[in-house]
Amino acid sequence: MSKQILILPGDGIGPEIMAEAVKVLELANDKFDLGFELSFDQLGGAAYEQYGVPLADETLERARAADAILLGAVGGPQWDAIDPALRPERGLLKIRSQLGLFANLRPAILYPQLADASSLKPEVVAGLNILIVRELTGGIYFGSPRESRVLENGERMAFDTLPYSESEIRRIARVGFDMARVRDKKLCSVDKANVLASSQLWRTVVEEVAKDYPDVQLSHMYVDNAAMQLVRAPKQFDVMVTDNMFGDILSDEASMLTGSIGMLPSASLDANNKGMYEPCHGSAPDIAGQGIANPLATILSVSMMLRYSFSQSQAADAIEQAVSKVLDQGLRTGDIYCAGTTKVGTAAMGDAVVEALRSL
Ligand code: IPM
Ligand code: MG
Repeated sequence: MSKQILILPGDGIGPEIMAEAVKVLELANDKFDLGFELSFDQLGGAAYEQYGVPLADETLERARAADAILLGAVGGPQWDAIDPALRPERGLLKIRSQLGLFANLRPAILYPQLADASSLKPEVVAGLNILIVRELTGGIYFGSPRESRVLENGERMAFDTLPYSESEIRRIARVGFDMARVRDKKLCSVDKANVLASSQLWRTVVEEVAKDYPDVQLSHMYVDNAAMQLVRAPKQFDVMVTDNMFGDILSDEASMLTGSIGMLPSASLDANNKGMYEPCHGSAPDIAGQGIANPLATILSVSMMLRYSFSQSQAADAIEQAVSKVLDQGLRTGDIYCAGTTKVGTAAMGDAVVEALRSL
């Protein structure tokens, strides 16, 4: 039976980078006889324009029915002034939460070819391979009450809530330990337990889960220290597990260690490894439509999809090899360009990966 993949290009550079990822996915589909059927729909601002909401019910139903979802990016300044409940980001948060995609895997891997593109010294980042496991459907992103109001004295105030239940912590901790187990067996749990009640529970529950993983070395770190350690000595980390907001921030930070956020894919998985795959970067409205965005994070998201949702590790490896080969050839989009390499646009980069994959 064929496998259904729903493609949601989104906004900004989303459609441009997705076009390249789709070329790669279609070639992989043929080459490895994967039996995928692709269908397309809208999310974010593009959905707001087409359906009047950032995630239409019919799109959500299609996403539920699909075997996997590939997403570009959402958001843009043209939707800054609309009702906050209809902002593009709301569509993204809703699809994550409605599909129960609680486990967000964000690998930060430095391709040796890009050591010079990192803002850190090559010796600090050489060989870097970190996996950030971010909780994605709880915490302050979804906590209620959340409100913005005017006090009796006329002053405006607003607040959010940061709740975590032990079951939410336990299931993401398990993902962190499971991932560490098949890597270097080191898990660092990041929290703010010196201040936040939610973090104190986080730490307690992670300790409890650790009893089932005696082979994994667990450490705890406060998030401010983790942010500092990531730029001081990032190679001390193997797997990091953390809450929704800390993971959002730390994964952007970790991405820059690898040269560019334009290189980093992500997987958001539910309890059965059904997933949505997307680049870690945003919709980059400042460069949208110019054909210069880096499509590699989205192409590498295709590879993660093949690996995690379809257990097609041979095809996933091949896509990663093709990306590596293109970097060996010296091809670079502007975000990873440095002297001595060849600057190319989005489509040329995608075509080069397709060629490399074809000839593997
Ligand atoms: C991310 C993004 C999203 C998030 C935004 C677009 C809502 O920054 O996937 O990291 O904060 O989760
Ligand atoms: Mg983010």
